[in-house]
Amino acid sequence: MTSPFIGQPGEAMPRPGGGAPAGGGAPAFAVVVVDADQAARSRLAMQLGQGVTPFGSLNELAARLTGQPVVMVLGPSFNDPDQLAIAEQLISARREVGAIMVATELTTDLLQKALRAGVKDVLQLPVDSGQLVDAVRRVAASLQPSSPPAVAGGQAAGPEVDGGAGKLITVFSTKGGAGKSVIATNLAVTMAMRAKKRGDKPVVLVDADLQFGDIAVMLKLSPQHTIVQAVSALDRLDANLMQNLLIEHEPSGLLVLPAPLEPAFADQIGAEDVRRIIDVLRSFCSLVVVDTPAYFNDVVLTLIEDSDDVLLVAGMDIPNIKNVKIGLQTLKLLGTPTEKLRLILNRADSKVRLDVTEVERTLGVKADSRIPSDVVVPQAVNKGAAVVIDAPKSGVSKAIEELADQFSPAPAGRKKK
Ligand SMILES: Nc1ncnc2c1ncn2[C@@H]1O[C@H](COP(=O)(O)OP(=O)(O)OP(=O)(O)O)[C@@H](O)[C@H]1O
Ligand SMILES: [Mg+2]
Repeated sequence: MTSPFIGQPGEAMPRPGGGAPAGGGAPAFAVVVVDADQAARSRLAMQLGQGVTPFGSLNELAARLTGQPVVMVLGPSFNDPDQLAIAEQLISARREVGAIMVATELTTDLLQKALRAGVKDVLQLPVDSGQLVDAVRRVAASLQPSSPPAVAGGQAAGPEVDGGAGKLITVFSTKGGAGKSVIATNLAVTMAMRAKKRGDKPVVLVDADLQFGDIAVMLKLSPQHTIVQAVSALDRLDANLMQNLLIEHEPSGLLVLPAPLEPAFADQIGAEDVRRIIDVLRSFCSLVVVDTPAYFNDVVLTLIEDSDDVLLVAGMDIPNIKNVKIGLQTLKLLGTPTEKLRLILNRADSKVRLDVTEVERTLGVKADSRIPSDVVVPQAVNKGAAVVIDAPKSGVSKAIEELADQFSPAPAGRKKK
């Protein structure tokens, strides 16, 4: 395997100006693996590819540092607090060194300790080579203050935090199974692909269905981190650290902050925590899309309050319409400005024998979007693919594209509704 990093086999540290990492532009950096256990360091070095230098100890590495930026991959022996303390000394003494660590068992406690020691990212073993390479690239970018700004999809450079806060869209419904997650996912994927094409800041999807969120499954992602880690690092959460906790949906460049892997963690996450996380995301993303559970709670109410737009999803059956009517009344009682509410009718086609005009009259709002019912949706969901990518010509994808048009800065000839 050829390394995506600079440096030739046997060349421990690149010469100054000796090349640029993949993604281009930034000055050279070297990648090293440190672990006392030879098998562990060789495995990691092999995963990272040629040109990566293994070291048996931090002392050996320290003796070779030249001032050139170095990304240091700490092996599992650094999961030990004493070893981590030694690494902390090196990280704080040498500004040109950025660290990531791999963990045999990634607990919240270990993550917290590692982040406090100055480690930028922690990945659970066994780790996928692609994830390891991505993590190294992100850290390398943070070592380069003169790097070009972030590209959509969280590629080589660090996050661009200026240029105003990104928009916040919350997708909500008072009825379970109405299609919130399908709509949130496909809207976010569509917007991410548009942002990438335009060279805009990235788009992020947050799964705030804290107990039963399934965005990661829907997009076939295997997250190393979830919103739980973001909450536990809240006291030092900035754009850089946040970016390391996100996972990229590679086909679209969408960044995802998944829901906790265990429903029990939901209790540890409060509305103010989510608000702070969203604020950090808005600082470097052009758009934050949030998926929610099917009931009002503090987190949902805070999200609705902070959102620029709230997409209220209603399935086309009588129980759905009844629940959405109650939801709408509740939102109005809570003082939610009606201008930011958008009604999305899901599975809205003639086959369901419910008249759209009649539904609109009952709810007292016009639908902003009608999404047909189509077998391509469960087919894509079961594959872990976005419908807009899997079946781009389907009626569902066209409806999602039209919905996205309402939020994208209008391409020629199209205006925001
Ligand atoms: N337009 C559609 N056509 C066909 N099937 C659909 C459509 N929208 C959603 N579905 C199917 O309905 C199921 C529920 O959708 P989804 O998970 O998005 O709902 P939800 O509102 O997020 O549910 P929950 O309240 O459980 O989070 C999915 O398995 C999906 O395949
Ligand atoms: Mg859902």
